[in-house]
Amino acid sequence: MSELSRRDLLTGAAAAAAAALAATPARLLASTDDWRVDLMAPTPAGNGSMLGVPFARHDVVRVAIVGTGLRGRSVLGELLAIEGVEITALADIVPEKAQRAAAMVTKAGRQAPVLFTDGERDFLRLVQRDEVDFVYTATPWPWHTPVMLAAMKAGKHCGSEVPIALTVDEAWELVDTSEKTRRHCLMMENCCYGNSELTVLRMVREGVFGTLLHAEAAYLHDLRKILFENRDEGLWRRFPHTERDTNFYPTHGLGPVAQYLGIHRGDRFEYVVSMSSPEAGLTEWRERNEPKDSPKWSETYKAGDMNTSLIKTAKGRTILLQHDVVNPRPYSRLNNLQGSKAVFNDYPPRLYIDGAPGGERWTPLSEFKGQYEHPLWTAVGDLARKNGGHGGMDFIMAYRLIQCMREGLAPDFDVYDAAAWSVPYALCEQSIRKGSAPVRFPDFTRGAWRASTAPQGPASSP
Ligand SMILES: NC(=O)c1ccc[n+]([C@@H]2O[C@H](COP(=O)([O-])OP(=O)(O)OC[C@H]3O[C@@H](n4cnc5c(N)ncnc54)[C@H](O)[C@@H]3O)[C@@H](O)[C@H]2O)c1
Repeated sequence: MSELSRRDLLTGAAAAAAAALAATPARLLASTDDWRVDLMAPTPAGNGSMLGVPFARHDVVRVAIVGTGLRGRSVLGELLAIEGVEITALADIVPEKAQRAAAMVTKAGRQAPVLFTDGERDFLRLVQRDEVDFVYTATPWPWHTPVMLAAMKAGKHCGSEVPIALTVDEAWELVDTSEKTRRHCLMMENCCYGNSELTVLRMVREGVFGTLLHAEAAYLHDLRKILFENRDEGLWRRFPHTERDTNFYPTHGLGPVAQYLGIHRGDRFEYVVSMSSPEAGLTEWRERNEPKDSPKWSETYKAGDMNTSLIKTAKGRTILLQHDVVNPRPYSRLNNLQGSKAVFNDYPPRLYIDGAPGGERWTPLSEFKGQYEHPLWTAVGDLARKNGGHGGMDFIMAYRLIQCMREGLAPDFDVYDAAAWSVPYALCEQSIRKGSAPVRFPDFTRGAWRASTAPQGPASSP
């Protein structure tokens, strides 16, 4: 597919999303005109909550992958290292990419998967296959929701790369469809499974932090070179910067923080205010690096470089949320947590506990691992470091999904988490347009967050 037609795809998806929003003015008006009104779409007849719903037991989990680019192949490698998984089908619009992924499967001594490479909607045939239990999509963002909806409607559980939805209405459609079809619709948020994140989660659960007050989350990653490449993410990930001003990638920071705060288990995101800095990163990179005859010179970058938002939760807690992928900096997801008894700051991971000997000084998190390392990391950490991307957390995520499906457990996160963590993509844009006015989060659980005791994140008792 050419760069031009990929761009049409994104523009077409944006137009379709705009049309869908226009068709439901009540929901949109409520979200922008009165930020104090709770946004709850009525429950469609016959739907039931998906909070805490266990998977049926699967002896072997048969996985299909849509999108076998960099990420799809990386997660494929992790799945191939896990017992009890079969890769039965692969789809990509570029046949060579699907074939490369298929070669990984056969090289691992497994049966060759069926390939679906007949255009951008061939995943519609893939999801119909009987020998598929779980559909994972690692496509460009606009395809996440269409693939997940098709999978659920065909009776398959599904998981998407991040973010799972780009508009409020897409997020509601995923929630409604998951509830109606009784299929899980998950977001594969690998950062929830990092070694530091799961260690801190265990400390939170064991009361080390006292009362939780404030957290900080971000995606701060210099992607300038990648965004301008004529391959892989350079073919699609720069375009949203020409179309919208918002936080394009909220979930890597927000997922772990939501897990610490127990969002949808007694608390929820209530509203957000957002503002962006001026744009400079992409324009200045282009000036320095793009040949003068490059088609990229026709682009105008609308997104401010550093998007900063504040989320208030129903319990009154605060979350700082940032996004910048176009300026020089060492990588950070912030990943900070303040409680009444302790504070954690990441990059590098360090902790201060009230009254610690030596006074107000940071102690490396590694010194607490002996007592608080999460049992998942203790059990399969060596395997994860050997087989998994991003320091092993990608393997832990894949391992845990397969464990939940094989043992018949509820997933660690559900469609409501996926929707709430993704929806800042839409809400921050609304806030910015209104001069940083507060914008209410929809209550995707329709009130069930108050009393929910559904598990969130992997159990941390050894
Ligand atoms: N969780 C993480 O740490 C992480 C890391 C990198 C990327 N990602 C996410 O993974 C997704 C994919 O990113 P990537 O880096 O692999 O990009 P990529 O461009 O390398 O891969 C995307 C693949 O999807 C294919 N594709 C496009 N439209 C399709 C369609 N309709 N049907 C089937 N295949 C289609 C493309 O041909 C390509 O092979 C994105 O959502 C990205 O944000 C997540």
